[in-house]
Amino acid sequence: MGKAVRARACANIALVKYWGKRDDAQNIPAAGSLSLTLDALTTETSLRFDPELAKDELILDGELARAAERKRVSRFLDLVRARVGETSKCRISSDNAFPTASGLASSASGFAALAVAASTAAGLELSPRELSILARRGSGSAARSLFGGFVRMHAGDANDGSDSYAEPIAGAADWDLAMTLCVVDGGGRKAVSSREAMNACRATSPLYEPWLASVPADLREAEAAIVVKDFERLGAVTERSTLTMHASALAARPGICFWTPATIACMNAVKKLRAGGTLAFFTMDAGPHVKVLSAAADSTAVAAALGDIDGVSQMILARPGPGARIL
Ligand code: PMV
Repeated sequence: MGKAVRARACANIALVKYWGKRDDAQNIPAAGSLSLTLDALTTETSLRFDPELAKDELILDGELARAAERKRVSRFLDLVRARVGETSKCRISSDNAFPTASGLASSASGFAALAVAASTAAGLELSPRELSILARRGSGSAARSLFGGFVRMHAGDANDGSDSYAEPIAGAADWDLAMTLCVVDGGGRKAVSSREAMNACRATSPLYEPWLASVPADLREAEAAIVVKDFERLGAVTERSTLTMHASALAARPGICFWTPATIACMNAVKKLRAGGTLAFFTMDAGPHVKVLSAAADSTAVAAALGDIDGVSQMILARPGPGARIL
């Protein structure tokens, strides 16, 4: 039996969203993205190869995972096995410090931790870029969770995905930022996965191509704002990226709406904070939760303004977090 390897990765929230694939089989994004890795959202995964097992065994948050989740993980592990000629199946146990599959980016931290644990257990020595490419095969956003702070994902243009990887951008370390995650009810297991929703947008949304066309300028703007530490510029691009992404989903046929009334109430509360002089900006992913970017010093004001909104069940305060690593 192989040695058990334990890895930890933090989730990340995109400021410039990834929404759409140019290659489904290899999970290559159609456009780049830019994210912030967050310390409060962690996944710890332990894994070992066990020749006695007939199939991979996945324990997720203490319970045997559903078949669909196990198969997704098995397909990912097959990529690692194929590279080293390993035939044994794996025992995997993975724990999230936040609600799974709720739009709180558990696939990002999950597949980043799995990529690090599985490649290490298999004795595969990968560079950070290669690890990011491997993690991408599990989930697009996982490619970004290999790294801490601000991270830029490149869509690349190679057919084999070899230039579709993430890398860190200097910036968050000495910038006192916070992200307040407002967990909105109705955000248990999501009805439509991000993969299904992206594919539906590509197939049916008249706003999908305009969305993709908007991404390069938003990436340039976000990177420029990070370089000069202009928080208001970064916040403005964060809001317009999420709204344009959601507009493309709303315009799919049938339309896909991830929001609940509490989501909209949170967005309005953030705008009200800004009107009162507190710089805060919202972003939403493939779920109803609202993530609010602010200066760390303003996170108490953000929590006070959004915590009592009907339908907001939990607030999680996160700060820029580190990259994935072996424990
Ligand atoms: O990592 P995936 O395939 O679940 O896609 C993530 C998509 C969004 O969270 C909506 C946006 C993003 O860039 O993280």
